[in-house]
Amino acid sequence: MSAKFYAGRVIENRHWTDTLFSLRVEGPRLEFEAGQFVRIGIEPTLVRAFSLVNPPGDPVLEFYGVVVPQGPLSPRLAHLKKGDVLQVASNPAGFLVLSEVPDAETLWLVSTGTGIAPFLSILRTETPWRRFRNVVLVHAVRYARELAYAELITRILQQRPSFRYVTFVSREPTPGSLAGRIPAAIRDGRLEDAAGLALGLRSHVMLCGNPQMLKDATAALAERGMRKHRRRNPGHIAVESFW
Ligand SMILES: Cc1cc2nc3c(=O)[nH]c(=O)nc-3n(C[C@H](O)[C@H](O)[C@H](O)COP(=O)(O)OP(=O)(O)OC[C@H]3O[C@@H](n4cnc5c(N)ncnc54)[C@H](O)[C@@H]3O)c2cc1C
Ligand SMILES: NC(=O)c1ccc[n+]([C@@H]2O[C@H](COP(=O)([O-])OP(=O)(O)OC[C@H]3O[C@@H](n4cnc5c(N)ncnc54)[C@H](OP(=O)(O)O)[C@@H]3O)[C@@H](O)[C@H]2O)c1
Repeated sequence: MSAKFYAGRVIENRHWTDTLFSLRVEGPRLEFEAGQFVRIGIEPTLVRAFSLVNPPGDPVLEFYGVVVPQGPLSPRLAHLKKGDVLQVASNPAGFLVLSEVPDAETLWLVSTGTGIAPFLSILRTETPWRRFRNVVLVHAVRYARELAYAELITRILQQRPSFRYVTFVSREPTPGSLAGRIPAAIRDGRLEDAAGLALGLRSHVMLCGNPQMLKDATAALAERGMRKHRRRNPGHIAVESFW
């Protein structure tokens, strides 16, 4: 995949915790569909895929990242300051988009860690509210302080009566959040109880983040008769692995 790179200008690097950051970048106008990713870097020779957090049409591009301590790029992105240059590829891509999702009653957007990023873009468009009777955002993190974007999510909850937000915090007891992991809570019904909605063949589930969560959650959903969606063989599950 060869692409042109544009020099974007960092206008903010917000640190949510020591390791979680959001880069806001003024730069090229990119054509993309909510849920897609684009490759970014400091030099065009070291680039990584990042989901766009902003909705299409927004003049400021936003990326949500975690520092992987031994990673070649993410620690450097976390250090970028206002005014620094971020290289942004010209060709967003990816299939974790609503145009690939068949009609369903309930749309479940299920994420671990920074895997929430593409769903924040999707939730800021009109499409999910027009197409689905219910929309559930599920976010699993290790520690409560990693439940980023609470203000944005609260605003959407206030605006959209059909929206539910379910959180998991796996490594400390947290009132208002489920304990443990997503696949176990699919199996024992705790996820449905928390959302107040059934998770079955009238649902479509989009999964994003940790590849092992994608596998384990897909297996738990298969026990309910749900299968991966393919254009030629419609199903109920779409996945995007971050590594
Ligand atoms: C389609 C796609 C979209 C992506 N979108 C995002 C995004 O929006 N935000 C983001 O932070 N990352 C995202 N990633 C991951 C990103 O591309 C990089 O891998 C990540 O920023 C780490 O880069 P690195 O060079 O420091 O380490 P790398 O050499 O790329 O990764 C080293 C290791 O770090 C771990 N790792 C990588 N990414 C993550 C992560 N996000 N959370 C936890 N552990 C991770 C894995 O164990 C991986 O093997 C995406 C990846 C893909 C394929
Ligand atoms: N989060 C941090 O405090 C932190 C700090 C420094 C560096 N990092 C780096 O960031 C990366 C990890 O980041 P992260 O915490 O965002 O991602 P993560 O390890 O994927 O954890 C996010 C959530 O996903 C859960 N999870 C992990 N495996 C799962 C599976 N198989 N099925 C279902 N759920 C699963 C975790 O639960 P469990 O807790 O049960 O695993 C946690 O609730 C690592 O490279 C790490 O070195 C993270």
